Amino acid sequence: MSDEWLECIGCHARYRVDQIRNGCDCGNLLSLERPKEALSALAPALFDARLGRRDPLSRSGVWRFREGVLNLQEGQIVCHPEGGTHLYRRLALSQWAGIDDLDFKHEGENPTGSFKDRGMTVAVSQAVRLGTKAVACASTGNTSSSLAAYAAQAKRRAIVLVPSGKISMSKMSQALAYGARCLKVDGDFDVAMSLVRQLCEHLGIYLVNSVNPFRIEGQKTIAWEILQDLDWHPPDWIVLPAGNLGNTSALGKALREAFEAGWIAKLPRLAAVQAATANPFFQSYRAGFATRPKVKAETIATAIRIGNPVSFEKAKAEILSTRGVVTEVTDAEILLAKREVDRAGLGCEPASACSLAGAKKLRAEGIIKPQERVVCVLTGHLLKDPEAVLQAAPGLEDARDQIVEVGSTLAEVEAALEGCL
Ligand code: F0G
Repeated sequence: MSDEWLECIGCHARYRVDQIRNGCDCGNLLSLERPKEALSALAPALFDARLGRRDPLSRSGVWRFREGVLNLQEGQIVCHPEGGTHLYRRLALSQWAGIDDLDFKHEGENPTGSFKDRGMTVAVSQAVRLGTKAVACASTGNTSSSLAAYAAQAKRRAIVLVPSGKISMSKMSQALAYGARCLKVDGDFDVAMSLVRQLCEHLGIYLVNSVNPFRIEGQKTIAWEILQDLDWHPPDWIVLPAGNLGNTSALGKALREAFEAGWIAKLPRLAAVQAATANPFFQSYRAGFATRPKVKAETIATAIRIGNPVSFEKAKAEILSTRGVVTEVTDAEILLAKREVDRAGLGCEPASACSLAGAKKLRAEGIIKPQERVVCVLTGHLLKDPEAVLQAAPGLEDARDQIVEVGSTLAEVEAALEGCL
């Protein structure tokens, strides 16, 4: 075994990292592991020193943390660069959520507009290391955009399976632009996911959904970069939307590893937020994780329209290990939160707004305490789903009312602004 290995989260069987493998022989998920000392031997100062450097790997918010991500030769790394997203504070949003100490990590600032780029740079680099010619995923849109971009950079064939009619055209157009073969599946995301797993098995294509442990290693850096943004003073909570549960798994692993390595003095708690009509993880959490329900998912937050999340077992373990919580928010609550994020000048796609809607709810329930420090992850860019801006919700002014048809004279233009200035 090298200094990194793949380990089954169930039976703890170990496998080499230089072979194609997306699951254990026993059927469980694999996790990339390294000796504990590998991380505890590092100090955050190493990562901080890289912030000022100009080489692409130091400028990447993923590869800046490379010792804790994946040990590769520089020539194997397919880097945009990605990450390096900002942390924002907006008084209006703090007031709306009732949380004074509230920041937003905007992952929509990644190269293809979502956090997926952090995992994809690692998974596609691993595909290069393995010498695979084609990479594939099932996706509600963002993973496919990201895969298509990184595959194009690495000159690999990209194949994406998306649920027909349930993916925003903005996301689809990214995958098309970067040259991916797009299969619109007559079924939902869960059907597409099951199909792509079989397809990859049959044709020897490299699967880069979040069952791929290398994706998780890249996505861990969302949490590490938040810690770095906060000068390694950890927040009490990190709140994020939850769909296929790769990100919940990744952030939990990152926080645990940072704590065990001594990079932070306290372990933040995770809060995973689902849409109430796509909530299998919440249902399970509410039942003390005694069950693993599958649901027929339906929500305006199409990115997380998922009824049978593949990273369920990992995410469950991470919620438990961080003393985390899982909650749900309605589509109306998502749209209200999105409107607040948009009007604060940040903007995000509907699924991303789950974090703010969830944080507000957890604060109202007293689970998040008044003085606690909270970071919400905004997972995707506003332009990922422009149609959502026009979605109606109770109590929301119709954004269409902002549009006024005018003639071509100054008088008409001025008349249209009456009462507006
Ligand atoms: N937010 C956005 C914008 C997403 O695109 C996704 C997932 C999530 C949150 C949920 O993250 O699946 O790790 O729990 N999008 C996937 C995709 C499913 O195909 O793009 P998760």
